[in-house]
Amino acid sequence: MSGEDPRLQLWHGRFAGGPSEALQALNDSLPFDRRMFREDIAGSRAHVRMLTDVGLLAEDESQEILGALDAVEIEMADGTFVTASSDEDIHTAVERRVTELAAAGAKIHTGRSRNDQVATDVRLWTKSAIEEVIDLVHRLALTLADRAASAGDAYLPGYTHMQQAQPVALSHHLLAHGWSLLRDIERLIDAHGRVDVSPLGAGALAGSSLPLDPEQTARYLGFSATFDNSLDAVSDRDFVVETLFALSLLGVHLSRIGEEMVLWASQEFGFVDLDDAFSTGSSMMPQKKNPDIAELARGKAGRVIGHLTGLLTTLKGLPLTYNKDIQEDKEPLFDAVDTSRLTLLALDGMLSTVEFRTDRMAEAASSPYAAATDLAEWLVSQGRPFRDAHAIVGELVRAALEGDVSLVDLVGADARLGPEAAALLAPGVSVTRRTTRGGGAPSAVVQQLVSFRQRLAVLEAQRGHGDTDPL
Ligand code: ARG
Repeated sequence: MSGEDPRLQLWHGRFAGGPSEALQALNDSLPFDRRMFREDIAGSRAHVRMLTDVGLLAEDESQEILGALDAVEIEMADGTFVTASSDEDIHTAVERRVTELAAAGAKIHTGRSRNDQVATDVRLWTKSAIEEVIDLVHRLALTLADRAASAGDAYLPGYTHMQQAQPVALSHHLLAHGWSLLRDIERLIDAHGRVDVSPLGAGALAGSSLPLDPEQTARYLGFSATFDNSLDAVSDRDFVVETLFALSLLGVHLSRIGEEMVLWASQEFGFVDLDDAFSTGSSMMPQKKNPDIAELARGKAGRVIGHLTGLLTTLKGLPLTYNKDIQEDKEPLFDAVDTSRLTLLALDGMLSTVEFRTDRMAEAASSPYAAATDLAEWLVSQGRPFRDAHAIVGELVRAALEGDVSLVDLVGADARLGPEAAALLAPGVSVTRRTTRGGGAPSAVVQQLVSFRQRLAVLEAQRGHGDTDPL
């Protein structure tokens, strides 16, 4: 095999021949890891500056390499970068081009391996991806809060087992989804903390005999911490798994919102009218208006969960330290982030514009049976043990369902209950009575909304984005 084969550049000392096409097709990650070019170049800049600090690079060599790195970044950003067949991944592509542009480029890989380099790139990429996703989750949570604030006294049936249970304020229902998003933000912030550790300086797996300063590269890159164990630094992908988990659970929450919107948009429920800009039509049935965004929010969650289980499975059998299997971390991560971003944006648009059919909601929640629990609680307030109260109301419900007299009339005529209790069964009354902390009455939700917005502001401040001091 020819000594000029560019593919021999990286390991030309040891190998007499070049790689087969099949190996290249399977092995090369450049098609997907090129999107980390900014992170790769940032990592190289930090490494070069550190090498200069510790005297392994002369100042003029350093300037030459940094200039070449700038040029490569421009080429990659504007699409003029020409790949060579030897460019196995983003790291080899950048190094090859830097070496073409700068003679001192041959020193850039001093004390460094692609193993610590790729871990650095993925961590840098994940940090900003998490920050972007949090921004979008935050935005959706604010949309839910705004819609809750403007929902006023509107109410709808609350369900258990998908059976009408007790009426609740619409604002209460919307904020229930909001709180789960808030926990997603907490989880993403928590994961971000463990992503924020620099692996650069771990080398291939064992550190270096050269006087490297990993803490200095960590500082240059804006990492909050530096690895403690070089073996762990190059082989750990917990941070990708944790990010995928946080995105999966976020996906589950978005999916549950989606599922409800699908139901609510159906003719049978009719609780919402979707804005035209956020719904689709049918190619055949002219009357259709479909909740595709909501369905895709539901559908995409499966894909993200798949990425999580896929990567867990990839990692579970790996001995220390780096193994090529680990290259399989990037596509699921990138896709999960892209998918989450798209879903969050579309769902936010849909929820900001959806029209709530509060008339239909109230009508659905107006059945006197929905107030049966409140009736039993009224009896408790009159001194009856709850079990007895439950049985009394249960018998009246059965009598109403089986006979010709309505529940309201039965309650009004019952000596233990009477007109005051019957008044509770009027539409819209029972919902106003559940005023306990975190309860479903519109008046209770006023306080909940304040707490919700405060909590969101505190989380923003923790990230250094907000104007509220962290508690
Ligand atoms: N493309 C590889 C990855 O994404 C980079 C590290 C390869 N290291 C190696 N020694 N082959 O994981």
